[in-house]
Amino acid sequence: MKTFNVFIILFFIHQFIILGQEPHSNDYAIILKTGENNVETQQQKYLYKDRNVPIEDRIDHLLGLMTLDEKIKQMNQWTYGKNANPNNIGDKMKEVSPLIGSLLYRSTHPEYRNQIQKKAMTESRLGIPIIFGFDAIHGYRTVFPIPLAQACSWNTDLVKESCKIAAKEGWLSGLDWTFSPMLDVARDARWGRVSEGYGEDVYANSQFAIAAVKGYQGEDLADKYTIAACLKHYVGYSLSEGGRDYRYSDVSMQTLWETFLPPFQAGIKAGAATVMSGFNDITGVPASANHYTLTEVLKDQWQHDGFVISDWGSIRNLVDQGVAKDRKEAGLKSFLAGIEMDMVDDVYIDHLPELVAEGKLSMSAIDDAVRRIIRVKMKLGLFENPYVDVVPEDKRYLLPEYLKVAEELASESMVLLKNDNKTLPITSKYKQLAIIGPMVKDSVHIMGFWEGMGRSQDVETIYEGLEKEFGNEVALNFAAGCDFEGEDRSGFKEALETAEKSDIVLIFLGEKRNWSGENGSRSSIALPKIQEDLVLELLKAKKPIVLILSSGRPLELIRLNRWADAIIEIWQPGTAAGSAVAGILSGRHNPSGKLSMTFPQTTGQIPMYYNMRKPARPNLGHYQDIPRDPLYWFGHGLSYSSFDYGPIKLSKSEISKTDTLIAEVEVTNAGTRDGKETVLWYIRDPIANISRPMKELQYFEKKYIRAGETIKYSFEIDPLRDLSYLDSRGNVHLESGDFYILVNDQKVKFEIINR
Ligand code: NOJ
Repeated sequence: MKTFNVFIILFFIHQFIILGQEPHSNDYAIILKTGENNVETQQQKYLYKDRNVPIEDRIDHLLGLMTLDEKIKQMNQWTYGKNANPNNIGDKMKEVSPLIGSLLYRSTHPEYRNQIQKKAMTESRLGIPIIFGFDAIHGYRTVFPIPLAQACSWNTDLVKESCKIAAKEGWLSGLDWTFSPMLDVARDARWGRVSEGYGEDVYANSQFAIAAVKGYQGEDLADKYTIAACLKHYVGYSLSEGGRDYRYSDVSMQTLWETFLPPFQAGIKAGAATVMSGFNDITGVPASANHYTLTEVLKDQWQHDGFVISDWGSIRNLVDQGVAKDRKEAGLKSFLAGIEMDMVDDVYIDHLPELVAEGKLSMSAIDDAVRRIIRVKMKLGLFENPYVDVVPEDKRYLLPEYLKVAEELASESMVLLKNDNKTLPITSKYKQLAIIGPMVKDSVHIMGFWEGMGRSQDVETIYEGLEKEFGNEVALNFAAGCDFEGEDRSGFKEALETAEKSDIVLIFLGEKRNWSGENGSRSSIALPKIQEDLVLELLKAKKPIVLILSSGRPLELIRLNRWADAIIEIWQPGTAAGSAVAGILSGRHNPSGKLSMTFPQTTGQIPMYYNMRKPARPNLGHYQDIPRDPLYWFGHGLSYSSFDYGPIKLSKSEISKTDTLIAEVEVTNAGTRDGKETVLWYIRDPIANISRPMKELQYFEKKYIRAGETIKYSFEIDPLRDLSYLDSRGNVHLESGDFYILVNDQKVKFEIINR
C-alpha cells in the first residue's frame, strides 16, 4: 500500500513537470526528489545533464524532450555581423535568443559570453548551452605567422604550440570553437587564400592538420583552455577557376581522392570535432550540397561523429550557383547533403519547419543532425561548465612565453631564398644600414589576413626590432621610398641618398594584408611596379642589396631576383615580426625555413608545383619565353650553415608488401653556426597503373645540428602507408615493382617483390 502511494505521488509529479512543458515522448525526466518545482532545479536533475551517464544516452534523453523548434534553433549559427564594439554587443546581447545553437562571437569579452550563455542556460526551457565560434586562424591576440609560413617551418611541435596558445587566449575570451585549420591544398598563388593553408603538398597539409587539431583540442575537449577545431573548406575550394575566389572548381575524382581529401581524413582521424563546407561548386555539385563528400565520405566512410557547418552564406549561395530555385530548396539540398549547422543564413530556421511538415525531411534526419551538434557540446563539457573564466587581459594575452613561441615560429618560417657571396647575416663590417621600404614601420599588413583579435599596437615593427637588435652599434638610416602601390616616386630621391650613405641596403617590400586571404585574388603575383622601381633606383647606389619580402603568397620574383644579392621571404609573421626579422638579419636566428609552396618564374607559369605528373614529352612543351623550372621549388631554403648529406642507406633493397624498410641519411653541419635542418623524404613510383607524380613527400623531420656535428635522420617505410596510392573511389592500391627514395639531389632504388 505504501509503495503504491509513493508511486502515485511520483506519477503526479512526473505529469506536473511534463504538462508544464512542451510535450515530449521520453519520460526519462524523472525528478529524483520531490518538492522542487523551480524549473532550473528540476532541469538539473535531468539525465541529459548528468555527466556520469554515457553521452549517447544523454543525447537520446534530450532529443526526447526537445520540440522541433528547439531542434532547428540548435542548427543555427547567429552572428552580430562585423560590429565588435563592446557597447553594441551589450545591446545586441538582448536580441540573442536563448535557444540558438551557436554564436559567431566577435568580441574579446568573456563577460558578455557568460551573460549570453547564462540566458541560454536559465531562460531556455532545457538549458542547452550555446557554442561560441570565431576565426582564430593563426592566433587570437598573439598573432602567429600565416599558416602558409608556418608550414615552411616544418616544425609541427611549434605549430601545435601556437594553436594551443590561440585556444587558451580564445577560450579565456569566450570561445569554444575556431574555424581552423584550413586544409585546402594550394597550387595557384593567384588565389588569396593560399595564405590560410599549409601549401601545395598533401602530406604536409595532413601533418599540419594533425598538429593544429591536437593543439586546439588538447587531450580532452572538456578540459579548460581547449577549443573545438573545424576543418575547412571541405572540399576542393582551392581549385577555384583561375585563382578567382568563390568560383567553380573542376575537381576530378582522382584529384579529389589523391590531393584534396587526405588532409581532411588526417584531421578527422586526429579527432577534429567539426568540418566546414566550402563555397565552391565541385564539378557541378557544390560543396555545400554534395552528398558524396559530406555524407558518403565524411560520415559513412570516415565515421565522423561531429557536425558540419556551412560557410558564411554558402547555403543561400546554392541559388546563385544555380542548383536551387530559392532559399527553401537550398536549405533542403544542404540539409540532405549533410550540413547540420547553418552559418548566418537563417535558411534552416526559416524553412526546415515547413520542409518537415511537408514530409520532405524526416524527424529522424533532424534528430541525427541535432545529435551531432549536441554531441560536440557535450564533449566540450559545456553542459557542466557553460562559462569561461574571467581573468584580466594582462593575464590572458601576449604573455612572454606566447611571444617567445611567436618569435620562434616566425623566424623558423622565414625562408632565405638567395644569399650570394654570403651577404647575410649582417656582420660588424656594416656600420651604416639603409632601411628602406613600405614594410619597415608597418604594423598592420605584417599580421596578415585573419589576424584574429590581433591589434596593430601590439605588433613589434621591423624598425623596432632592428633598433633593439643592433642598438647603438650601427646606424639605421630609414627612408620609406614609396607606398605599397600607386605611382608616387617622390620618396625615391631620399631613399637613394639614404642608400648611398650606407654600407648595405635592406629593402622591405611586400603585400597589404587584404591582397591575400578571403576574396584576395590577384591576376598577377608580382609586387606592384612602384616597389620594383624602387629597387631599380636603389641599384644606382651600387651597394649590396638585400630584399626582405612580406607576402601572403609566393611572389613573381623573376626581375627582383636578378637585382638582389640576398632575398628573404618573411611572409606575414605577426606580432613578433620585429624580433624575428631582426634576429634573422643579425644571425641570432639561423634561417631554417623551406618553402611550402613553389615560387614560379612568372604568374603565367601557374600551376607549377613540385609533384606534378610526368609529361609525355619531358623536353618539349615548356614556355618559350621563361626558364622551364620555377624560380624556387617547394622545399627550397638556405641557411647560414651548410648541411652536407651523406649517401642514403637502405636496410634492404627488396621488400614484400608487408615488410618495412628503413632509410637513413647522415647530415653534417659543415658551417660555423649551429642550425636546424629539415630532411624531406620523397618517394617516386616510376610505373603504376594510374600515373603517379614525379615524386611525393612521404615524411619529414627537422633536427638541430651543432656546427661540425653529424646527425642521422631515418624514415621507416611502411609500404601500405607510404608506397600505395588511391584511385578515383578512394581504394588503396599497392603495386609491386621499382620505387625510388629521394632526398635532396640523391635517389636510391628499391623494389617491392611479390612474395
Ligand atoms: C567565410 C570564410 O570563408 C570562412 O573561412 C570563415 O571561417 C567564415 N567566413 C566565418 O568567418
